[in-house]
Amino acid sequence: MNNGVAIYLGLFASMAVSWVAFVLGPQAQMGNLQPATTVAALPAVYPTAAPGLARQGAEVYRAHGCVYCHTQQVRPKELGADLARGWGIRRSVAHDYIYDQTVMLGEQRTGPDLANAGLRMDATAVLARLWDARIFEPKSLMPPYKYLFDVRKIGRKPSPGALVVQPPFGAPQGYEIVPRPAARALAAYVASLRQEPYLFEAPPPPGSVSTNAPAGETNAPGGTNAPGGTNAPGGTNAPGGTNAPGGTNAPGGTNGEL
Ligand code: HEC
Repeated sequence: MNNGVAIYLGLFASMAVSWVAFVLGPQAQMGNLQPATTVAALPAVYPTAAPGLARQGAEVYRAHGCVYCHTQQVRPKELGADLARGWGIRRSVAHDYIYDQTVMLGEQRTGPDLANAGLRMDATAVLARLWDARIFEPKSLMPPYKYLFDVRKIGRKPSPGALVVQPPFGAPQGYEIVPRPAARALAAYVASLRQEPYLFEAPPPPGSVSTNAPAGETNAPGGTNAPGGTNAPGGTNAPGGTNAPGGTNAPGGTNGEL
């Protein structure tokens, strides 16, 4: 029994060390992240909260286990081929998730990563996939979610919002496929997924052209500047630009004295 105290202290110490490393440390590092300034001028801050329908859809996504087959994280170039597969234009960073109540990173990729699904498809295309993924991929592993739709007789005219699906996947003659509210919310959620703006921790590749204001523009204090532009004090500058004192500059730029 003499070892009891030693075992207790040993267990306590290992629990405490892992709590500090895996709970306290990450919380201190990024528990209080605020929307970041983007590299390009528009949008000025990122992310913004998702619209209400998309937020409801996140719960539908969670409830239906989409997360077991789909990830929502784009790995950096060194760690995988995600960027080469066209799953995103930059790697995912902690800022991408600050408004997510449940962060659905996922762990297995039976299907493609959905971090940027909204850049590839709109809500209607998502609905068609939920009805029957074999429309797009004859041997699809993705299960159909037909119970998220009502199949009903067409009245005097087709309902607005009814899904148009070509045979043989559509409803029988005289019937229509109407997405239920849960399906609409889920589709709005998937179509809202986009990790688009470049951030300072995930900058555009050097030498890439930005969708920003034309190069050579001059920027006012406190503003955000496009590549090739000149920036005034207090502003934030993108790669390739020249920056005045007090500003922050990204790789490739020239910065003034601080
Ligand atoms: C059993 C695994 C599995 C589950 C569960 C699953 N999917 Fe899929 N999903 C796939 C596969 C595999 C693909 C790739 C294309 C194909 O084979 O249809 C795919 C493709 C997709 C795509 C198109 C992606 C692209 O880039 O083309 C979307 C959107 C999608 N799934 C959404 C969902 C949603 C929403 C749910 C939850 C309701 C879900 N999936 C559940 C396996 C799954």
